[in-house]
Amino acid sequence: MNSVVVVGTQWGDEGKGKITDFLAKEADAVVRFQGGNNAGHTIVFDNKKYALHLIPSGIFRKDTVNVLANGMVINPKALMKELEMLNNGGITDFHLAISDRAHIVLPYHIQLDGLFEDLKSGSKKVGTTNKGIGPTYNDKSARIGIRVCDFIDLEVFEDKLNDNLNYYNKLFKLFGKPLIEASEVFNEYKEYSKQMKQYVEDTGLLLNTMLDEGKKVLFEGAQGALLCLDHGTYPFVTSSSPTAASVPLNTGISPKYINKILGVTKAYSTRVGSGHFVTEFENDVAKRIRDVGHEYGTTTGRPRRIGWIDTVVLRHTKRISGITGLSVMLLDVLTGIETLKMCVAYKLDGEIIDYIPASIKDFERCEPIYIELEGWTEDITQTTSFSDLPLNTQNYLNKVSELSNIELAIFSVGPDRTQTVVLKDMFN
Ligand code: IMP
Ligand code: MG
Repeated sequence: MNSVVVVGTQWGDEGKGKITDFLAKEADAVVRFQGGNNAGHTIVFDNKKYALHLIPSGIFRKDTVNVLANGMVINPKALMKELEMLNNGGITDFHLAISDRAHIVLPYHIQLDGLFEDLKSGSKKVGTTNKGIGPTYNDKSARIGIRVCDFIDLEVFEDKLNDNLNYYNKLFKLFGKPLIEASEVFNEYKEYSKQMKQYVEDTGLLLNTMLDEGKKVLFEGAQGALLCLDHGTYPFVTSSSPTAASVPLNTGISPKYINKILGVTKAYSTRVGSGHFVTEFENDVAKRIRDVGHEYGTTTGRPRRIGWIDTVVLRHTKRISGITGLSVMLLDVLTGIETLKMCVAYKLDGEIIDYIPASIKDFERCEPIYIELEGWTEDITQTTSFSDLPLNTQNYLNKVSELSNIELAIFSVGPDRTQTVVLKDMFN
């Protein structure tokens, strides 16, 4: 069984892109299975920096098949921009496969995203990335979505687009939003449709065949498990499931193929958008982490909220996503901080609890219970093995692994591909 799923164990931005890019060298296929261009992965190599939002991180390796699976929502305009960026960077030799069952994000979804947020009162705003992701998934479950197979059939596309805009323009009129002209959207998007067509296929079929043949497939989660629509901190979540459990459904492969799951965590925590964040803090140390870790959103540029690592979150993520190996990222960002805190449990109304309450009202009252660990000052950015690390760094990693009850598989000491230390071969 040659598949590995890479999932975020926190609220996204854990460094999954870097890990996927790293593991991609062994993979025959890299697959995005949920979300859309709300995600943002930064990949650095040969002194060049690439920000990917839709395209899997395997795109830089010419022999890797890069799949946008059926569980995704794809903005064709954003996809074309990304392809152009790659083209400008000299990345022209690649294999891209787009599912005919994925859903298409159109301009009215983006306007709806803003409208739905506007209609919510202050503390209830989700703080979405405003990319139209939620409204596209709404259309999917309301059965009025436009799928890739419809989009590349211009007759079907035009027909469905007319129906949907007829409907949504009534809503826009009611709320005083600009109306969207179907013919204008059609004229612009038919060009994207023509360009996209060459990449479209039944990717479920493709992936099952590859797995049946013993090929290696890497599934790349976007966002993090705490943003899962079902198991995250609802309603401050995204509208898909970034967990390993969603992979079979969102790609069309058999569940029997999933058993190696790499959870990616930062050595601390971050969150963008709204929602309670138990270990959040704001002081000079948080500022330092934000600066050193470049903690600004890849998609929206928003400064990320900073917190200590939370092992209640890691244990929750391990349960819901079946994590079998842990990758600890951005360890170098903690260098020079005298005392490091690690959350081991929550206190809720005087009681110690070891889980994330479903009710956001209860979750908002949870306070962190910390242990403190001694930091380190040595430069660790050139480290190539666990035993090379300062003792306090080793202690920190061992404690994260012990408290999350997940074996340490990888740690990362800098943004470059080479600054990655592998302790456990995930594919074998
Ligand atoms: P949406 O996915 O744009 O609907 O946003 C819902 C929530 O998920 C917001 O809090 C976003 O900030 C957050 N979110 C969505 N995508 C990402 C991501 O890739 N990284 C981090 N947060 C994200
Ligand atoms: Mg990101």
